[in-house]
Amino acid sequence: MSQRASRRSRVLRSAVATGAAATLAAGFLATTLAAGFLATTASAQVTQARPAAVTVQAVPDIPVANVKAHLAQFQSIANANGGTRAHGRAGYKASVDYVKAKLDGAGFTTTLQTFTTSGATGYNLIADWPGGDASHVIMAGAHLDSVTAGPGINDNGSGSAGILETALAVSRAGLQPTKHLRFGWWGAEELGMIGSKYYVNNLPTAERAKIDGYLNFDMIGSPNPGYFVYDDDPKLEGVLKNYFAGVGVPTEIETNGDGRSDHAPFKNVGIKVGGLYTGGDEIKTAAQATKWGGTAGQDFDACYHASCDTSANISDTALDRGSDSIAYAIWTLGTEAPPLPGTVFENTADVQIPDNGAAVTSSVTVSGVTGNAPAALQVGVDIKHTYRGDLVIDLVAPDGSTYRLKNSSTSDSADNVVTTYTVNASSEVANGVWKLKVQDIAAQDTGYINSWKLTF
Ligand code: TRP
Ligand code: ZN
Ligand code: CA
Repeated sequence: MSQRASRRSRVLRSAVATGAAATLAAGFLATTLAAGFLATTASAQVTQARPAAVTVQAVPDIPVANVKAHLAQFQSIANANGGTRAHGRAGYKASVDYVKAKLDGAGFTTTLQTFTTSGATGYNLIADWPGGDASHVIMAGAHLDSVTAGPGINDNGSGSAGILETALAVSRAGLQPTKHLRFGWWGAEELGMIGSKYYVNNLPTAERAKIDGYLNFDMIGSPNPGYFVYDDDPKLEGVLKNYFAGVGVPTEIETNGDGRSDHAPFKNVGIKVGGLYTGGDEIKTAAQATKWGGTAGQDFDACYHASCDTSANISDTALDRGSDSIAYAIWTLGTEAPPLPGTVFENTADVQIPDNGAAVTSSVTVSGVTGNAPAALQVGVDIKHTYRGDLVIDLVAPDGSTYRLKNSSTSDSADNVVTTYTVNASSEVANGVWKLKVQDIAAQDTGYINSWKLTF
């Protein structure tokens, strides 16, 4: 299924290092390139490109018939329970039970989380796909409750069914993602995102930090659809836009969505968010009808929060595209290559060190590395000097924390500092500007920073 280029390092001393170009062919291949494959370097700085570790994994076409079958089940559940799947009603718990049974049967580890609001028990359903790097979680979510007025098939049976069928496709593919995949179905969104807030509030800080991104799907089958991609984290936005570009469907950005759905609690604690929305009780303009079809001057979803939000209130085309975009995002983000060990970031520009003077620095910009710096960060230093005992050397992390590499010494009379220091930098975020700080604290002998490098 997956082909990964051999992992090897190579130092590129050209100003611009480019990796293999990604080709997005029809039928969609998620072409995942190691981050940093396109590294534009600053004048004197030499950045080693990551090897082009390319994972090519075919993204499945999510069968819209399967998604519609889930919607038919939600409709039946509502019909059998007073026409609604709202929080606190029997139709909500029946919806949870339906989704949970499908996931349990497909090999997911499911967790039912309960909370109480408006005098009734609410439920979140969390499904983890076993495997992947537990410290890098890609998460997709949708609210499963409807309003009391109706069965909530577009809002939000559509997003719930779309992420469910994507999860089932993960299972059918036997996907072995590099990242850990998690799906969430939220209760009581219609009462103010109660379920997703509860989940995030009860997630320890360390667990929040492991979520690389949260994608929200609330209304993805609107009958007079538009395609609105949340304008939030650029990478998550870019992945969804890439899907739509690949099928030739224009998108607009969703700017009114901030705070209107379950991505908000995630965003509020600093988790990167994105998502898709095909429109609600806003009116489609003539320009939008020209680009997307449908009817200008009418709502994207005239049955928003109404009793007519039934299985008839769905655009199959929008539902199909929306579901396929979920799969595209999960495959692309979930199979992204982990940071490769051995990537070198180097600055070869000479920096004079004033005799018995102020400290000088030389910078290295680290990018494309996920997470924190290593516990054994290698700091290679090459300083030419006629009496190295004059020198005090520090490594400065992007957040300003300093690590003393070398103190001065009146007895160390040798020339030059050409060595590699090992620093436990595991509490530092890797990406950012690192500095080597050097000060000469005694008169007479002088020198310069010749080069220095960080190996991640
Ligand atoms: N459940 C949301 C709400 O009622 C649906 C919604 C409306 C939405 N506008 C949105 C979701 C924009 C995401 C983005 O508010
Ligand atoms: Zn909704
Ligand atoms: Ca000196």
